Amino acid sequence: MVTASAPGKVYLFGEHAVVYGEPAVPCAVERRATVTVEERTDARLRVDARDLEIEGFTVEYGAATDELGVEVPTELLEAATEYVDGAVEQARDACDEPDAGFDVTVESEIPLGAGLGSSAAVVVATIAATAAELGVELDPREVADRAYQVELAVQDGQASRADTFCSAMGGAVRVEGDDCRTLDAPDLPFVIGFDGGSGDTGKLVAGVRDLRERYEFAADTVTAIGDVVRRGETVLTADDPSLDELGRLMDFDHGLLEALGVSSRSLDEMVWTAREAGAYGAKLTGAGGGGCIVALDDSPATETALSYSQSCEAVFRAALARDGVVVS
Ligand code: PMV
Repeated sequence: MVTASAPGKVYLFGEHAVVYGEPAVPCAVERRATVTVEERTDARLRVDARDLEIEGFTVEYGAATDELGVEVPTELLEAATEYVDGAVEQARDACDEPDAGFDVTVESEIPLGAGLGSSAAVVVATIAATAAELGVELDPREVADRAYQVELAVQDGQASRADTFCSAMGGAVRVEGDDCRTLDAPDLPFVIGFDGGSGDTGKLVAGVRDLRERYEFAADTVTAIGDVVRRGETVLTADDPSLDELGRLMDFDHGLLEALGVSSRSLDEMVWTAREAGAYGAKLTGAGGGGCIVALDDSPATETALSYSQSCEAVFRAALARDGVVVS
């Protein structure tokens, strides 16, 4: 039996624009998905995902037929089984063991579909744990690449490498198309506000694509996000990064995302609550439409203000996760 964990992430800068080849800088945060895998004596796959912040469920199905042992709603299946199934398939392929069967238990501290990279963390941890159970320790870069292939397949070709690379490597990373690098960045005082909801990534990405095709100024807005990211990564990797400047750039990024129609009233309200509490800056993180914001504040003020905000269902601090995927 092997357990692996992998962190979620926030976008410091660059979501949406990354889809059009601009760079993005996601940062792994200390909220992890933990996956335990035990090889079975048959070729079946049994997935137990009790703690995905959705109702618990267990499904059992044959690896060859994908036949479900029990009936569960499609939404939940997509949330867990498709990703886990794809991840197990990648591990079987990496280890040249196409017929291996497993019991997989998934636990996660990362809200689903809220811009914190929950699916990427589950996929990354599942690939690493399954391969390790078969006696193969995969390089984190290979785990990242295989996890990206899973996301691409499950999300109908709509995925950037940002979430999966960040979760596998940990720390702050820079992703531009297929070019993925780790950045040397200090810990940052992240405060995350969650409105309890989630956005539909596919729809939000399609909305930006439409705007970009229709209006030249929308295409310029996407390019401007890329400019913010390039400036932001220079500030982040400087000897003593200015939180003032990082915050200002986060505010700017949020404004551009808002203009592209991917914010929401509750996200904007949380962003303004954070700014008024004295945060260095605040922005939505991930696809938007609902879910999470990330603010920078080294005082308790933002956390306190968000905890009193009607738009905010949960608020927490999250340190930069130095470790990406960890097999134990
Ligand atoms: O909400 P998340 O964490 O899945 O982030 C989506 C980020 C986008 O840039 C909108 C899409 C992508 O695949 O990069």
